[in-house]
Amino acid sequence: MTKSYHIAIVGATGAVGIELLRVLERRSFPVASLRAIGSARSAGKSVRFRDDSIPVEELGDGSFKKIDIAFFSAGGEISGKYVPVACQAEAIAIDNSSVFRMEPHVPLVIPEINSEDVRDHRGLIANPNCTTAIALMAIYPLHRAFGVRGVFAASYQAVSGSGARAIDELREQVKNALQDRQLTAQVYPHPIAFNLLPHVDSFLESGYTKEEMKMQNEGRKIMHLPEFRASVTCVRVPVYRAHSVAISAQFERPVSVERAREVLAKTPGLELVDEPENNRYPMPITVAEKDNCQVGRVRVDCAFENGLSFWVSGDQLLKGAALNAVQIAELL
Ligand SMILES: NC(=O)c1ccc[n+]([C@@H]2O[C@H](COP(=O)([O-])OP(=O)(O)OC[C@H]3O[C@@H](n4cnc5c(N)ncnc54)[C@H](OP(=O)(O)O)[C@@H]3O)[C@@H](O)[C@H]2O)c1
Repeated sequence: MTKSYHIAIVGATGAVGIELLRVLERRSFPVASLRAIGSARSAGKSVRFRDDSIPVEELGDGSFKKIDIAFFSAGGEISGKYVPVACQAEAIAIDNSSVFRMEPHVPLVIPEINSEDVRDHRGLIANPNCTTAIALMAIYPLHRAFGVRGVFAASYQAVSGSGARAIDELREQVKNALQDRQLTAQVYPHPIAFNLLPHVDSFLESGYTKEEMKMQNEGRKIMHLPEFRASVTCVRVPVYRAHSVAISAQFERPVSVERAREVLAKTPGLELVDEPENNRYPMPITVAEKDNCQVGRVRVDCAFENGLSFWVSGDQLLKGAALNAVQIAELL
């Protein structure tokens, strides 16, 4: 008989939390009981899981009693404070925030790349940054074929990456813009409707943002490649769901488009959509709500030696968050 698990979701009412509920249900994860946890603001609300309506409980020190696996998707501050509480209660925590990702004893896992790292966990496993996860789904198989040195990349990140409030903000701004009304911005420093913001996360002294450095830092840890370099510009775009990344990668060994396509087409979790002559390439609208990421526009880079350029799209609420977290739980 399959063992079933007592599950808690911290942040069950948020953009990632709602997807976690759906993914657990869709993949028939063996759930014995489910505790949906939010802030005091969610008191009286409920979420749906299978055919049940589950009341949302307020997060507290007793939230993890008799819980086997706790998913955290309520921001870094909450994870920083309550992941240790969950571990103390002997739950295994799977954390979507960035606070523990670079701690040496915390595995940072994309199951298609470094599933074996899960074995070293001490009660906590971190889920990678969403843009990094989607980009590495294509970079890693190419690395295995040609040996990656580094990448130059620009991301096109959907507003749902900033949570439920940002989705509402774009919706509201689009409505107001079409009626020639003033646009007010609350989540972002500027209106996002009909605009692009070359600004995701806070700026560092180097001029890069924190988000931009995650591809290099987390990429090194996940691929076990301490020399990997990534120069990234992260851009927020007025797309509701699914991130895309334009990548130019440099390799140690000579590359060919034919071999690259062959390798990418065989990668689990990734689909090769590369028929430019038929206008077929990955797009946010074709990957939204899909588990698989897509890669296309594969070409020999004309600026670098041993370089390939390509374009990846993926649903960041799934592969960049909820799906990857549930895949980690499945490994456990
Ligand atoms: N969105 C993405 O694509 C994505 C991808 C990868 C990782 N992440 C990470 O996942 C986390 C959640 O992101 P999100 O996009 O789902 O955000 P969100 O839509 O804003 O949801 C935030 C969730 O956290 C809960 N929460 C906030 N303050 C809380 C408190 N004091 N106590 C208990 N619960 C509290 C909220 O509950 P209430 O409804 O009660 O306020 C809500 O359920 C963040 O760490 C984010 O960095 C997000």
